[in-house]
Amino acid sequence: MHILRLNLAQLRCFESLSFVPSAGVNLLLGANGSGKTSVLESLFLLSHGRSFRPGGNQALIRRGQAACTVYAELDAAGRTYRLGLERSALGWRARIDTQTVPRLSDLLAHCAAICIEPGSHGVLTGPAEIRRRFLDWGVFHVEHTFLETWQSYQRSLQQRNVLLRVGGDNTQFDAWEHAMDSSARRLNEWRRAYLERLRPRLQEHLARWLPELGVPALRYQRGWSAEHSFIDVLAAHRARDREQGHTRQGPHRADWSLGFEQAPERHQLSRGQTKLAALACLLSQFDVFRESRGTTPLLLLDDLAAELDAAHLDQVMGYLQGNGAQIWITGTEFPQRWQAGIQVFHVEQGALRA
Ligand SMILES: Nc1ncnc2c1ncn2[C@@H]1O[C@H](COP(=O)(O)OP(=O)(O)OP(=O)(O)O)[C@@H](O)[C@H]1O
Ligand SMILES: [Mg+2]
Repeated sequence: MHILRLNLAQLRCFESLSFVPSAGVNLLLGANGSGKTSVLESLFLLSHGRSFRPGGNQALIRRGQAACTVYAELDAAGRTYRLGLERSALGWRARIDTQTVPRLSDLLAHCAAICIEPGSHGVLTGPAEIRRRFLDWGVFHVEHTFLETWQSYQRSLQQRNVLLRVGGDNTQFDAWEHAMDSSARRLNEWRRAYLERLRPRLQEHLARWLPELGVPALRYQRGWSAEHSFIDVLAAHRARDREQGHTRQGPHRADWSLGFEQAPERHQLSRGQTKLAALACLLSQFDVFRESRGTTPLLLLDDLAAELDAAHLDQVMGYLQGNGAQIWITGTEFPQRWQAGIQVFHVEQGALRA
């Protein structure tokens, strides 16, 4: 898929911006604070319904304004979709082809973007929540009933937590735990299968960029004991969970990890190695999306050159140029040798110049 046109209004430093990117590689160059990351952020919003930056969704709205909008014409498998997303104090409003859609996820299902930004290091070194999000984004685009299953799990989890606090009887617990168990098993199976699909791709990318780290080990933890069924774990932990006031095991506690023969601990990776490993994870996700959906997601690479030496940057760029995706790269500068034959935009004072 690729963006044919992008319009922004009242988003961060942009009052209004409208431009036509190339279907191949787009490089956004500009000084610090000129708005490069904000352009990538706007595309990420269409795919994730949230920003990748801290500060919450209200921070996206240009200071002094009531709402911001992102409008994109997107080509997906030869069909053009007009996607509109507005953020105001009332929340999100999403439109597809001028029709307001009831759920934000209806819009998100149309646009897929994979983004590497400074926070992507979190896939390796951050809290489990980042890794669960990574996994669930992938599963969301492969399994059509993922979202409703996840929501159903969340609802029954909340109900069980209420019972833990107010003191429900066994019949009430049985009912909610039964509902949790049925969604948990599906979520777990999807996540496990998704990681298995990533595994060979990830090994390929890591062998190319980080051969010095030796054999990688990808491990999945489903969120509850490997020896017992979830329903048994829930029943056995009622008393302890009551003391804590919440459910301590389940798919809401799932995690996965990537370790290396030559760097078994996360903190043993250098910054550049962490970035390359995160890039490998996200590009494996790109590969799996392409295999299952037959179209490439957008690739957003914020400050790609930062932390990479010239040889690694050349390797990564050489690989990316051949992958057929629409790619968005930002930087305060970028090596001249990679600027030939790609679309370069200069970002300055809320404007974009080709
Ligand atoms: N809500 C807002 N209203 C107005 N301006 C904002 C808002 N949020 C951020 N900005 C400003 O928008 C500008 C764009 O920031 P952005 O992070 O996109 O820049 P950048 O080009 O990626 O910079 P860098 O090279 O430092 O990464 C900054 O000057 C920032 O202060
Ligand atoms: Mg930036």
